[in-house]
Amino acid sequence: MKSETIKKDFPVFAHHPDLVYLDSAATALKPRTVIEQEREYLEEYPANISRGLYTLSERATFEYERSREAVALWIGALKKEEIIFTKGTTESLNLLAYSLERSTTKDDEILVTTMDHHANFLPWQALAERAGATFRALPVSRSGEIDLETLETSVSARTKIFAFPWISNVSGTIAPVQDIVSVVRKRSPEAIIILDAAQAAAHLPIDVSTLGVDFLAFSAHKCFGPTGVGVLWGRSALLEALPPFLYGGDMVESASVEKSFFKRPPQRFEAGTPNISGVIAFRAAIEYIEHLGKESIRAHESHLVEVAREKLRTEIEGVELLGSSHPTKHSNLVSFTIPGLHAHDAAEWLANKNICVRAGAHCTHPFHTSLGIPATIRFSFSIYNYESDINRALVSLKEAIEYYRLAKKGEKEKQRDL
Ligand code: ALA
Repeated sequence: MKSETIKKDFPVFAHHPDLVYLDSAATALKPRTVIEQEREYLEEYPANISRGLYTLSERATFEYERSREAVALWIGALKKEEIIFTKGTTESLNLLAYSLERSTTKDDEILVTTMDHHANFLPWQALAERAGATFRALPVSRSGEIDLETLETSVSARTKIFAFPWISNVSGTIAPVQDIVSVVRKRSPEAIIILDAAQAAAHLPIDVSTLGVDFLAFSAHKCFGPTGVGVLWGRSALLEALPPFLYGGDMVESASVEKSFFKRPPQRFEAGTPNISGVIAFRAAIEYIEHLGKESIRAHESHLVEVAREKLRTEIEGVELLGSSHPTKHSNLVSFTIPGLHAHDAAEWLANKNICVRAGAHCTHPFHTSLGIPATIRFSFSIYNYESDINRALVSLKEAIEYYRLAKKGEKEKQRDL
């Protein structure tokens, strides 16, 4: 991928020519086509959907539903009714946890992993508390891998829900989804299996017809789309059986004091006015990804992770790299720690050089606790990154290490003189 050509697709670089953006796992930058599509709705047909009988509303409804079709096709769904638009992965997973409440009992067990993002951890923990069910987290290896034998012994017929991440937002390790699903199904054929695809959707091909899971969630904004748009895909039969999570406009067949009847999915789960411009613009993001090709995107990002891991390993003394060192197992990111340099100090130093990284516990306290690490620094790459970005980040990191080393030495000397 040619640096200058790709960068021209992203207007932010015209505003910040010096920007090194290494935080695409938090949110991806937005290409011009996405901005244009959102602008087109806002300027040309900014009406509500599914309600008006006038042309502007009809066009808005048409474009909104076209996006649903595009998402269905993009992820291999059987039909567009399996696609529910939410405001993000977090809402998709909460929706599910609330809708599954009525069918969860105190005899059930809910299993997640210790590396799950809080968005795929807390809703299940809270559901277990409400339903009186047992909540457990499967331990994972230091590199963020699920051991299939441990999984097999941890799942039982009582396991009603199993939720796990396709790609950990900290280790970047890619989970072998189908192998995991077959182990869970062997031990608990009725378990509902939920895949958090937030970190995978922009990077790996998705085909829900072969993954074997029952539900899958991701956000548009990590796929070059707008913020405030998420997707929950679910198997038709399961969605049909679930009660709504949010109640309000545009989700009922009829409402009365005696009894209300809800629409079929997906409308049953989309109460209120959604993020119409965002959903419509998300289609442009999907088209952009398809135009580049997920294989090329993956090859580009994988190469950058390899380069970053190698440079960090050889140029930064004592660095601990998280995640698998195997190129086929790591995604578009690398997290690490540096002795003597707090992750937040590193991120602040880099920020002063116009280099954006994420530092902290990345909304994964249980994983960081299990690793015995309070915070990590994370570089996450996308198609607009190049080796020159890694080089600039490394130069700045070395400056930060030196600065804090001298600062600590000065501190010690001062204490000695007292
Ligand atoms: N979940 C996003 C991240 O890991 C925000 O940065």
